Amino acid sequence: MRLTTLSSAVLALAHAVAAATGKAEGFAASVTGGGNGRTVYPSSNSELVSYLGSSEALNIVLTKTFDFTGSEGKATEQGCMPWGTGSTCQKAINKDNWCGNYQPNAPKTTITYDKAGMLGITVGSNKSLVGQGSQGVIKGKGLRMVSNVKNIIIQNIKITELNPEFVWGGDALTIDGADLVWIDHVTTSRIGRQHFVFGNNASGRVTVSNCDIDGRSSWSADTGCTGHHYWGLYFTGSQDTITFKNNYVHHTSGRSPKVQGNTLLHAVNNYFYSNPGHAFETASGAMVLAEGNVFQNVNAAIENGGGQVFASPDSGTNAQCQSYLGRSCQLNAYGSSGTLSGTATGFLANFQGKTIASASTAEVAKGVVNTAGFGRV
Ligand SMILES: *[C@@H]1O[C@H](CO)[C@@H](O)[C@H](O)[C@H]1NC(C)=O
Ligand SMILES: *[C@@H]1O[C@H](CO)[C@@H](O)[C@H](O)[C@H]1NC(C)=O
Repeated sequence: MRLTTLSSAVLALAHAVAAATGKAEGFAASVTGGGNGRTVYPSSNSELVSYLGSSEALNIVLTKTFDFTGSEGKATEQGCMPWGTGSTCQKAINKDNWCGNYQPNAPKTTITYDKAGMLGITVGSNKSLVGQGSQGVIKGKGLRMVSNVKNIIIQNIKITELNPEFVWGGDALTIDGADLVWIDHVTTSRIGRQHFVFGNNASGRVTVSNCDIDGRSSWSADTGCTGHHYWGLYFTGSQDTITFKNNYVHHTSGRSPKVQGNTLLHAVNNYFYSNPGHAFETASGAMVLAEGNVFQNVNAAIENGGGQVFASPDSGTNAQCQSYLGRSCQLNAYGSSGTLSGTATGFLANFQGKTIASASTAEVAKGVVNTAGFGRV
């Protein structure tokens, strides 16, 4: 009797730990991830890779650091230095002859990088990948959700150390031709290329919430190589709908985010901090509603400004949101920062029929700095 009680208590505890916490807000609200599937605790890199790539619905719990650095060996090749030859400047791997094609005049140099960082781990459909406490760390490899995978939750983990010295050294989270993806309370740091990259294929419903996009680095590609990572968030898929809420995007210098390719982006209650370049970069096809965000020490809140942007500029203008979102939009706030521009409203009709994240004031969003990232669920 006592044993039965004990084992059901243990099972209940394991289940409570395993399942993702909370629910996605916004476009990916109906995601369930591993749902009622088995709960597994990988103990080695290969076990982690095999669980993530399987076709079974799984709740995968990380209780330690999975270190992939060195696991595929190192490559020594000729690279290039397009952003300067100083010791704090990122260098570029000559991936697909990128140096030759795009930076023919950049000085060449011999570089050695970690091969494992170059391609992330494939994540299959119906998965929750959840870190326990602040123990879930993946070092030296990112995650890839591509080729029509669907229904994935990544929560409470950290991805770090993807060849930060080298552009093309690896992307932390790749989403390309996926649907129903929720990335929550994930920290990305010391990444070579993009922290988040959405490929050209359509990714349907995606929510990125409570993430810490940490651009601090010893090597960077910004003007003067000041340690602010340039390659932040690349939202350029076709027909993607992305809710981006309560994220802390800091010490970046560009593409934070870059938006184009018919991406509908709801950027709400994020905290953008310490950026000597630009936060938003928008181009043809971008549809961006930005509300209730905080820009603190951000040189340019937006660059280029193509596509359609609604920057929630004043309460009179923001009242126009009522007919599309069922409520007014929230003002953005600026401290020692450039301001967002954009009063396009035509695209707001695209919010109709979708699950729309709520918005608090920018004042409340200042608290994001204390809640975003892994280890805080
Ligand atoms: C994911 O789960 C759904 C619902 O159970 C199922 O219909 C679908 O086939 C699963 N996908 C894969 C790739 O196993
Ligand atoms: C993108 O779509 C094309 C055409 O359907 C397909 O061949 C390719 O594998 C897809 N790529 C990814 C990453 O899903």
